[in-house]
Amino acid sequence: MSFQQYYAPITANTRLATNTYLIRLHAPALAEAIRPGQFIMIRMPNSSDPLLGRPFALYDTFIDMKKGRPTGIDVVYLVVGKITKLLANLKVGAAVEVWGPLGNGFPDPVGADHVALVAGGIGQTPFLAHIRELLGARGYGGQTPRRRVQKVSLYYGVRTANLAAGVDDFKNAGATVHLASNDGSVGHHGFVTDLLVKHDAPQHLFGCGPEPMLHALAKQAEARGIPCHLSLETPMACGVGICFSCVTAVKTSDGWDYKRVCVDGPVFDAKCLQW
Ligand SMILES: Cc1cc2nc3c(=O)[nH]c(=O)nc-3n(C[C@H](O)[C@H](O)[C@H](O)COP(=O)(O)OP(=O)(O)OC[C@H]3O[C@@H](n4cnc5c(N)ncnc54)[C@H](O)[C@@H]3O)c2cc1C
Ligand code: FES
Repeated sequence: MSFQQYYAPITANTRLATNTYLIRLHAPALAEAIRPGQFIMIRMPNSSDPLLGRPFALYDTFIDMKKGRPTGIDVVYLVVGKITKLLANLKVGAAVEVWGPLGNGFPDPVGADHVALVAGGIGQTPFLAHIRELLGARGYGGQTPRRRVQKVSLYYGVRTANLAAGVDDFKNAGATVHLASNDGSVGHHGFVTDLLVKHDAPQHLFGCGPEPMLHALAKQAEARGIPCHLSLETPMACGVGICFSCVTAVKTSDGWDYKRVCVDGPVFDAKCLQW
C-alpha cells in the first residue's frame, strides 16, 4: 500500500447536472500516480464534523498543457449527505484534505475487442479515465498510452434525465453511449441491465452502481458467459485497510470470508463475490 496525504487546493467546482458537480483538486504527485478504478478519500480540513473522510472515484486527471503532465484530479460527486453538501459550497482557492491513490483499479480485459461499461446512479464516475485508458488516448500512473480494446460501449442508467452527468465527456472520449432512465425521460425506459441484454454481447463487462444493479449485471454476465468486474461503492471510514468498516463477503475454497473493499477492491471479479 503506497498512498500519501495532501492538502489540495480547489481549482474548479462546477455543476454538471442536478445536484452533481465536478471538483478539480491541485495535487500533482497524486495525479501522476493514480489509475482508473482507484479512488481517493476527501475530508474537510480543520473540522471534526464530519470526522471521517469519504471515498470518491477518479473521474480523470487534469493535464497542465504547459507542464505536459497531470497536475490535478477531477472528481464528480452527487450531493447526498454531509461532505458532498459542504463540497458543493466550496469556492476556488479553498482546500480539502485528500489521501490516495487507493484501491486496486480496473484490470486489463484480456483478449477482448469490445468492452461494455455499465453504470447506474453516480456509478458512471470511474469510467471516463477507464475509457481513455482502454482506447489508448491516455496513460495513467506513469504508463505510456496503449490501446487495449477496439470498442467501448457505456450503458448508463439514471433515475431521470437531469441526473445524467458527463454524457458528452464519455462520447468525446470515444465511447458509444446508451442511456436508460427509470421514468423514460431519456433513452431506454427501464433498467440499464435490460437495455444491455438487447445488444450484442461484449467480450468483457465492467459495472459500477447500486447493489441491485450489480447483482443483475453479475447474473447476466454469468448467463451470457462474459467475464465481469464490479466496482463496489461500500461506505468506508479510513480507506486504507485499518478499520474493517468496508468488508464484503467473497467466495473461498472452503466457503466464504470477508475482504476489505478499500484495499482488496473496490474492483472485484463478479464470480468471487458472495451475494
Ligand atoms: C470506491 C468508492 C468510490 C466512490 N465514488 C464516488 C464518486 O465518484 N462520486 C460520488 O458522488 N460518490 C462516490 N462514492 C459514494 C460516496 O463515497 C458516498 O455517497 C458518501 O457517503 C458521500 O458522503 P456524504 O458525506 O455526502 O454523505 P453521508 O453523510 O455519508 O451520507 C451517505 C448516505 O446516507 C444518507 N444520509 C445522510 N444523512 C442522512 C440522514 N440524516 N437521514 C437519512 N439518510 C441520510 C444520504 O442520503 C446518503 O445516501 C464512492 C464510494 C466508494 C466506496
Ligand atoms: S475503510 Fe477502513 S478498512 Fe476499509
